[in-house]
Amino acid sequence: MKAKINLTTKVGKVELPNPVMSASGTSGFSTELSPYIDLAVPGAMVAKSLAPYQWEGNPYPRISEAPGGMLNSVGLQGPGIPAWIESHLPKLVETDARIVASIWGKTVSEFKTAAEMLLPVKHQLTALEINVSCPNIEDGAKSFSHSPKAVGEVVLAVSAALNNGELKNEANNKNHNLPKWVKLAPDTPDLNAVVSQAITAGADAITLTNSLPAMRIDTETQRPYLSGITGGFSGAALKSIALKAVYETYEAFPDLPIIGSGGVRSGEDVAQYFMAGASAVQVGAATFLNSRALVKIIKSLRRWCRKNSITEIASLKGAAHNLKRDTYK
Ligand SMILES: Cc1cc2nc3c(=O)[nH]c(=O)nc-3n(C[C@H](O)[C@H](O)[C@H](O)COP(=O)(O)O)c2cc1C
Repeated sequence: MKAKINLTTKVGKVELPNPVMSASGTSGFSTELSPYIDLAVPGAMVAKSLAPYQWEGNPYPRISEAPGGMLNSVGLQGPGIPAWIESHLPKLVETDARIVASIWGKTVSEFKTAAEMLLPVKHQLTALEINVSCPNIEDGAKSFSHSPKAVGEVVLAVSAALNNGELKNEANNKNHNLPKWVKLAPDTPDLNAVVSQAITAGADAITLTNSLPAMRIDTETQRPYLSGITGGFSGAALKSIALKAVYETYEAFPDLPIIGSGGVRSGEDVAQYFMAGASAVQVGAATFLNSRALVKIIKSLRRWCRKNSITEIASLKGAAHNLKRDTYK
């Protein structure tokens, strides 16, 4: 008889049936992946980052293949939160998916406004991801995620916006404390300092990492492939970089829930992120190669666990930290 594999996991207080979520910006705003998968199957669906207003993003071309992954400079195109709440969220709610909203802004006050706009629907959300690390907005988010002070200010502003709503909700007997996940960049110079500020300001979990600023040049035309010149690199080759960020963050903050994001393509990749200290992962570029990647990775994780006699994925968390260096001698 096949042993039962328990894939349930907890990201802080958030319980997920399995640790495989979509990564923001790679599963659309709503039910775009519904023709391919049941959206209630992944651990959660993370919607593309939204600003308080409609935003055009960058001109085409804004996606390119790249060795070991892909480049994008979509530039946070989106309908804005009011339109998302009206036209996109209701369809997603119908699927029974666990929904994570993601927000971005150009200023601290825009992040705050974005959080306030989501208050009326927060009972429909599993968590709120705060994207302070998109590499594709000129001068904008980069300055947030690289600066402990700036990240602290954003998270504090979002916490304040949500807490005010908490009071209102208590009056309605609907106390729903929306967890805040802060998404950081892979090239953050002092990651521990940024994480520390995020925690102090109220982060419930950290997502590591966003895509890595990069570029590609077309030798035929002698021009960059992307209209945005540079973009964010993601996919297989990002895994080694994001894994290190997860490992080092877990080493410094062992009680902090961490979500791994970068190059997840198989169950074995998920297991590696758990060993580094993650409690869940997000899948991005793999979905561009196969629209069914999320469910395939969950199946692959179950197979990997069975083959390796792991009955509970959560038991692997932080396993790679248990080995002492002297075992290598
Ligand atoms: C086309 C594209 C659009 C993205 N848009 C967003 C976004 O809106 N917000 C965000 O936080 N991350 C965004 N990302 C980053 C992904 O969520 C993810 O963190 C990154 O791609 C690393 O995962 P991967 O290697 O599995 O792709 C985007 C990535 C891609 C490829």
